Amino acid sequence: MMRLIFLGAPGAGKGTQAQRVSAKYSLPQVSTGDILRDAVKSNTELGKKAQGFIQKGFLVSDEIILGIVKERLAKDDCQKGYILDGFPRTIIQAQAFNGNLSQSRAKIDYVLNIEVPEDKILERLSGRRVCTKCGEGYHLIFKNPLKENICDKCGSGLYQRKDDQKETIIERLRQYREQTLPLIDYYKKQNVLRTINGDEQIDLISKKIDDLLSGLRA
Ligand code: AP5
Ligand code: MG
Repeated sequence: MMRLIFLGAPGAGKGTQAQRVSAKYSLPQVSTGDILRDAVKSNTELGKKAQGFIQKGFLVSDEIILGIVKERLAKDDCQKGYILDGFPRTIIQAQAFNGNLSQSRAKIDYVLNIEVPEDKILERLSGRRVCTKCGEGYHLIFKNPLKENICDKCGSGLYQRKDDQKETIIERLRQYREQTLPLIDYYKKQNVLRTINGDEQIDLISKKIDDLLSGLRA
């Protein structure tokens, strides 16, 4: 049983690393951002409510997010552990999660805080491309697909996220500083925070995370 939280600024590499841990340990990757984008794409009630916030770079309300996470964590595949990618990101969300949100008062093993300097983030997010079908992430400089604009994994086309425009990125960073940064202290006090330098090569970061997690399993 492994329960992890990936914390970090927009573009820190939460999704990239969470996906690798998910594949290696067969754990579901619960990304609130992905769930919201799917809802926007399918134009559900949730999607309609969330769309405007996401496009402006604002956080979606705690109430909506807590509803989504509660429903997702109740599913069978989460009963043996999970990776939270992009949740919690406010103190209210963290407190709710610590309280009764996670059914068995789940104990988190680690909160992996990926740190990347702000000046690198703009470059990361403006060059990001994502597969329209399977969601695999790419980067125009750091992780190019073998064939331009085509996903290596499933052969579908790539797209640029609407919130990866410069002005929106700046707003997302502001939201991060104001609302999410306090979680670092919150989890430090609970002794579960592990900070990871995210300003290194993707494979090297994966290796360090792996070393940390293998300690958990021993
Ligand atoms: P979300 O989808 O979670 O976006 P985010 O937190 O802004 O983070 P990103 O997904 O942009 O970055 P990432 O850290 O996953 O980086 P990635 O691995 O892709 O949320 C989107 C929106 O939904 C929010 O703004 C909000 O509106 C709403 N929302 C979601 N959760 C919410 C919540 N809990 N509460 C309220 N609202 C919520 O990497 C980025 C790029 O860099 C990629 O191109 C990648 O290939 C590249 N890259 C990764 N690692 C490296 C590396 N080491 N070196 C070089 N390039 C790298
Ligand atoms: Mg992500």
